[in-house]
Amino acid sequence: MSSTDPVPTPPLQEVRDLPGPRGLPGLGMLHRWRVSRAHLLLEDWAQTYGPIYRFKLGPQTVVVVSEADAMMRVLRERPQGFRRHFAIRPIFREMGIDGLFSAEGDDWRRQRPLVMRALDPAHLRRFFPVIATATERLHARWLSSAATGMPVDVRADLTRYTVDVTCSLAFGTDVATLTRDDPDPLQRDLDRIFTGIAHRINALWPSWRWYRTRADREIERALRAASRAVQGFIAHARTEMAAQPQLRDEPANLLHALLAANEAQRLSDEELHGNVMTLLLAGEDTTSNTIAWALHLLSQHPDVLGAARAEAIDALGAQAGGHAGAVVLHDFESTRQLPLIEGIVLEALRLKPVAPLNMFTALRDTELLGTHIPARSLVCILKRPPATDPQAFGDPQTFRPQRWLAGEAAASGSGSGAGPDSVGGGARRAFMPFGGGPRFCPGRYLAILEAKMVLTTTLAAFELTPSPEPVQELMGMTMQPDGLKLRLSVQRPMRTAQNSPLC
Ligand code: HEM
Repeated sequence: MSSTDPVPTPPLQEVRDLPGPRGLPGLGMLHRWRVSRAHLLLEDWAQTYGPIYRFKLGPQTVVVVSEADAMMRVLRERPQGFRRHFAIRPIFREMGIDGLFSAEGDDWRRQRPLVMRALDPAHLRRFFPVIATATERLHARWLSSAATGMPVDVRADLTRYTVDVTCSLAFGTDVATLTRDDPDPLQRDLDRIFTGIAHRINALWPSWRWYRTRADREIERALRAASRAVQGFIAHARTEMAAQPQLRDEPANLLHALLAANEAQRLSDEELHGNVMTLLLAGEDTTSNTIAWALHLLSQHPDVLGAARAEAIDALGAQAGGHAGAVVLHDFESTRQLPLIEGIVLEALRLKPVAPLNMFTALRDTELLGTHIPARSLVCILKRPPATDPQAFGDPQTFRPQRWLAGEAAASGSGSGAGPDSVGGGARRAFMPFGGGPRFCPGRYLAILEAKMVLTTTLAAFELTPSPEPVQELMGMTMQPDGLKLRLSVQRPMRTAQNSPLC
């Protein structure tokens, strides 16, 4: 062979040659599979079998990938090369929640810009006062809880918070679930729908199409009730648009934009309804669980908590426009000056990614990590293994939000700091809690903003006592901190950033 000859590439291995746990005949690994712990099982197997392995669930073979570059290829090669798990769209359709998340191909291309525009940073700035109001209501609710001295179900309250923000910001309706007594019907229905989606996507057979159990009837009741709430939002927005026709060209919120597209026949009635439901669902659990995980991690790291509290108090005190000393940030600009609090949110997403796995179906034959992936294969990507890989993040299992601060990244030369837009190559590629490629999460800015607002107010106002019971990772539609009950007590006067240990 001469030196100019091309280097021969090794032949691709087939999926059947991949390592993986050997299952039982006909059942595969069904006997070990529990939806509530699925991510932990898949991560354990990734440790044993490496960055690409396979396993069987009943008749279905699943290829699991946890190497950052290969995962990013799957995410980027959409919509042509991969689609979401083939079961998602039909299930979402029959539940009346088929919107941007479940749309594919041209339907997805048409819907994506509408949703993207409504959640971009300019829109968030304009609607910032509704986020500040929801944060004030959460503060008031937690003041009442603190007065009782009882542990607080922070996750439930945070879910009310995210529902209130999404409804005000995207649909122009203040549902004010934070000001109501338990149990709030909309929140309860959304919870039921989440359980139903998780159950149906993970089901081996669509048994509910032939026989409806009590649980199926309960899901359908919740869907009908949530759908009535959505019809209410739509009716309200239609009235506004009839009174102010200029909202067609200059929509004030996502629902105006969707209705204008619907009137222009660029969006069907089902798509209109499906997208309102999608936003309601996509913005709720993901964000509330991320904030809950951040509070849990902070309650266990008093040194970080002290420094973050100093940052929060400084930011609240330094606000412009007569808001100095308020319990909530009222000035959008100040939310950009919270480097440690932003680091806490990113670190919570790194260690506790609420969407720890995503499932895709290959649309054509392709290659991943030297393996031939035939069209129609199921490919699962795991977010946490690359985000806790020591090659990308030093001391990877430790909660260390200051790794995201620009100064620390420069000093350590690790390239693993300074936020998702400026981290060095390895760490940036390994961190994908919001997905990636053309379908990355359009709610990312909103989610981080909500988390920063809640953390600033909570840290400045309350002491956190850790959960008395162990907190477990529980997988449903998202990964939640099961058993989390924090005791909140009203904060004593405290030091500022100048004498905090971390800054
Ligand atoms: C911490 C909070 C959140 C996390 C971790 C998260 C995570 C994700 C992930 C992993 C995806 C899939 C991305 C992909 O396929 O590459 C996604 C998609 C999506 N998210 Fe989020 N999300 C969060 C908050 C939100 C919020 C607040 C909204 C809106 C109110 C939202 C709306 C959506 C929508 C509509 C999609 C579908 C996008 C598409 O397929 O084009 N998310 N999110």
